[in-house]
Amino acid sequence: MNNRGEWSSKLGFILAASGSAIGLGNIWRFPYITGSNGGGAFVLIYLLCVFIVAFPVMIVELTIGRKAKRNPVGAFKAIAPNSKWWIIGAMGVMAGFGILSYYSVVAGWTIAYIVKGVTGGLTASHLDPAAIFNSFASNGFLQIFYLFLFSALTVFVVIGGVKNGIEKAAKILLPLLFVLMLLLIGYVLTLPGAMDGLKFYLVPDFSKVNSHTILMAMGQAFFSLSLGMGAMITYGSYLPDDDDLFSSALYVTFFDTLIAILAGFIIFPALGGAPTKAGPSLVFVVLVDVFRKIPFGGVIAVVFFVLMAIAALTSTVSLLEVVTSYLIDEKGISRKKAAIGAGIVIALLGIPSALSLGANKFFTKIGFLDKMDFVFGNIFLTFGGLMMCLFVAYKWGLECFFEHLSEGCDHVGKPHFNRWLQIAIYFICPLAIAILLLYILLTGETLG
Ligand code: PFF
Repeated sequence: MNNRGEWSSKLGFILAASGSAIGLGNIWRFPYITGSNGGGAFVLIYLLCVFIVAFPVMIVELTIGRKAKRNPVGAFKAIAPNSKWWIIGAMGVMAGFGILSYYSVVAGWTIAYIVKGVTGGLTASHLDPAAIFNSFASNGFLQIFYLFLFSALTVFVVIGGVKNGIEKAAKILLPLLFVLMLLLIGYVLTLPGAMDGLKFYLVPDFSKVNSHTILMAMGQAFFSLSLGMGAMITYGSYLPDDDDLFSSALYVTFFDTLIAILAGFIIFPALGGAPTKAGPSLVFVVLVDVFRKIPFGGVIAVVFFVLMAIAALTSTVSLLEVVTSYLIDEKGISRKKAAIGAGIVIALLGIPSALSLGANKFFTKIGFLDKMDFVFGNIFLTFGGLMMCLFVAYKWGLECFFEHLSEGCDHVGKPHFNRWLQIAIYFICPLAIAILLLYILLTGETLG
């Protein structure tokens, strides 16, 4: 197992894992869900879900990964041999395939929008952003081209390996993302109407809150923190035994949440109030419309989509790494072959999603991309999270779990800390996730 690779430092891990968490979920999904769920009140509930439910699950995943030093399938096999718990890991690998296939389609749009921005085909005043989006979305050739381009970028980084590929990319890209975001925030806050946008975003209006809002917030927290499919098991498997997992989990959760909140600080002031139409097109249509009308809008638009592409790439890399690490550990395939092979299969699997936005009647009618998001981005993730908590609580055993967690973690052994984590893993997380799952299954709701 020694040649699996390891992060070069704690900072390297924190940046790579934050890179996995920070993605389209923060910059594309979070603002439009906030927009359609009442603004400030949703933000508050989201924060509660992140720290009460999602954070303990993050600790669970990292601990399983570091203990077993394996991919999600191998991890369950190593900790619970001769049992069927490895199926949870196998579902995680499948979720990696599924999510990456449609996620790369949307990620490809960011590259297309950078190209359009640079060539002047995006923000010229005579252009209609909705028409641009629709004609692009229904162009099958371009959809597949950008899907393949983004998949190739992802494969390229993953071939580089843990230290020289994933960690290095995150070390360069994440600080860049942060600086670009701060620059954009500084700019949009000077726009007329910025304060109205901020008011919508920050002043909670609880009259809009109902059970649906809470469940949306939970689904978003899971997706955003890359939980439930073993991405954090995989990243945790490259951590040394003396790492303080509690602080690592806390940093990653904090950075992911910070970036989502900052994304809101870009989008709502730019919109100048409550969004009129808050759906998946918020960023690609509504925000582009804003960019058309403001000074330097063309440049700002390019910067914004570069930022989104960066965030997406560090996430697609983690999704592919789950599949790649499985093929390396369990099937003995070399990293290069595993990454390229999986990348090709995933890109091909993405074709129906790429064609489901107007290019092909059949896939458009069934809403293939949305269906993939529903099955893999919602059901698989929440079910995986639930099973991981149950695994620790009832199979591995909290005692063994705490014993491993305590290596390198000063907090473990302190009664308050142990009690809180026990209650979270035994009751709060499984119960909250089970309710969410039931809700999704009963209503067929696509969270996000
Ligand atoms: N967390 C990523 C985002 O917010 O865009 C999406 C994601 C990445 C989900 C990796 C799941 C995962 F394993």
